[in-house]
Amino acid sequence: MVDLSGKAVVVTGGARGLGAAAAQAVVDGGGRVLITDVLEAEGAETAAKLGHAARFLRHDVTSEADWQAVLDHAVAEFGRLDGLVNNAGIATGQFLEHESVEHFRRCVEVNLVGTFIGLKAAIPLLRANGGGSVVNISSAAGLTGLALTAGYGASKWGVRGLSKIGAVELAEARIRVNSVHPGMTLTPMTAPVGIQAGEGRYPGTPMGRVGVPEEIAAAVAFLLSDAASYMTGAELAVDGGWTAGLTVRHLTGQ
Ligand SMILES: NC(=O)c1ccc[n+]([C@@H]2O[C@H](COP(=O)([O-])OP(=O)(O)OC[C@H]3O[C@@H](n4cnc5c(N)ncnc54)[C@H](O)[C@@H]3O)[C@@H](O)[C@H]2O)c1
Repeated sequence: MVDLSGKAVVVTGGARGLGAAAAQAVVDGGGRVLITDVLEAEGAETAAKLGHAARFLRHDVTSEADWQAVLDHAVAEFGRLDGLVNNAGIATGQFLEHESVEHFRRCVEVNLVGTFIGLKAAIPLLRANGGGSVVNISSAAGLTGLALTAGYGASKWGVRGLSKIGAVELAEARIRVNSVHPGMTLTPMTAPVGIQAGEGRYPGTPMGRVGVPEEIAAAVAFLLSDAASYMTGAELAVDGGWTAGLTVRHLTGQ
């Protein structure tokens, strides 16, 4: 288990899915976590399940005022900020030629602008803390071109690029900024696709299966921890080999 003892972390979109698993990993590692989300009932329930080391605050990541309230709350509750996981996101897709401008803009607004506002707003606190770790959740769709992800994929490529800029600008302040790129993982976001967990149930990826939230959370926890002290600007694919290349199955079409 990764050691996060003493660390205070904000996880956006933490009511469910990957964010809830990341929040769990923070608590399991001995840290404290402020979960934020637009889903109030689910967020409060998730925090309650995690016990006294977890808090919840309603938060729309596209709102600058909400971000300030979140960071103020983190300081009021924990007295410090060591980590930020920009995880909140939305995903639905269309073929490029059918993607509406409104939907494209909304993906960029939540996934990329939301991450930007959070990263920017957290800098003074992380500086005051003597450093920290920001983990931005991009996607396999931020490493390669996936069909049906025009707005989503573009926003996730943006998150990947923003992470690099943060890494180079903030290294002198000992603030590390890395991106995590999950492949297909079983959460409420992907449930409508009809995927199922288990070996051999997802031939689209070299490992032949989808991921589970805990497998993504393990990478997030590692990047939050001091074990990743020399890592910044890295992009960590946690995708069962999806973005590594083509399998024989793909090459032969069988
Ligand atoms: N599940 C996957 O296969 C997968 C793959 C690659 C990347 N991701 C990324 O991982 C992150 C988490 O996804 P998930 O699968 O857990 O999805 P999810 O839908 O289960 O969770 C996303 C959370 O973000 C919250 N959210 C949405 N808009 C928000 C806003 N404006 N402000 C605050 N919170 C908001 C939602 O309410 C939800 O609780 C997303 O950024 C997603 O793009 C997921």
